[in-house]
Amino acid sequence: MELKSKTIFLRLVEQSDAEFILSLRINNNYSKYLSRVDDNLSEQERWLADYKKREALEQEFYFIICRNSDSLPIGTVRIYDFIGDRESFSWGSWILNENKTRYAALECALLIYDFAFFTLGFKRCHMDIRKQNIKVIEFHKKFGVKMIGETEIDLLGHYFPEDYLSIREKINTMIESYDKIS
Ligand SMILES: CC(C)(COP(=O)(O)OP(=O)(O)OC[C@H]1O[C@@H](n2cnc3c(N)ncnc32)[C@H](O)[C@@H]1OP(=O)(O)O)[C@@H](O)C(=O)NCCC(=O)NCCS
Repeated sequence: MELKSKTIFLRLVEQSDAEFILSLRINNNYSKYLSRVDDNLSEQERWLADYKKREALEQEFYFIICRNSDSLPIGTVRIYDFIGDRESFSWGSWILNENKTRYAALECALLIYDFAFFTLGFKRCHMDIRKQNIKVIEFHKKFGVKMIGETEIDLLGHYFPEDYLSIREKINTMIESYDKIS
């Protein structure tokens, strides 16, 4: 399975991606607001082996984000925590490194929402975002995510296909009209 847009594509993670994933997860620039991962390659490989079982059951999808121009891995993103019969999903493990393309984040969000809402048929997206992760909160708010509550450390958000459809074309136009791929 491959999800493709203008400058990036998403492919399912493989065991051989363990080192790349670990390098992102132990990098302080990226991991500040993500759950802690030990700097241990065999533990990461074990985690991925367990994940692959969930993937086979279509309970979770973990992607490597790659550049179209040279297939270089530039990040990760995962959809998980599937509730009910396609009632709701969450997404996270979202990292883009310094090799990202100009609008990789927007392209990635569109690929994830298209896949989850329209291919898988989810009716809602739920998310918890660290309150201190201001940039990502702003990103989701610009998409129209509704903040519906909070815990001590997280803001809780809900997002629906109709919210997404009302912004999708505008974002697509931004992506398409940007020509210089960094
Ligand atoms: C989260 C992450 C992948 C987002 O990628 P990013 O490239 O930083 O994304 P940005 O927030 O800069 O958004 C990309 C651009 O889209 C723009 N944008 C976002 N939503 C938009 C919208 N609805 N309409 C118009 N523009 C929008 C942003 O303003 C930004 O443009 P700019 O560069 O001109 O300011 C990245 O910051 C990262 O790896 N962070 C560390 C890990 C992390 O905290 N992950 C999140 C928790 S899972």
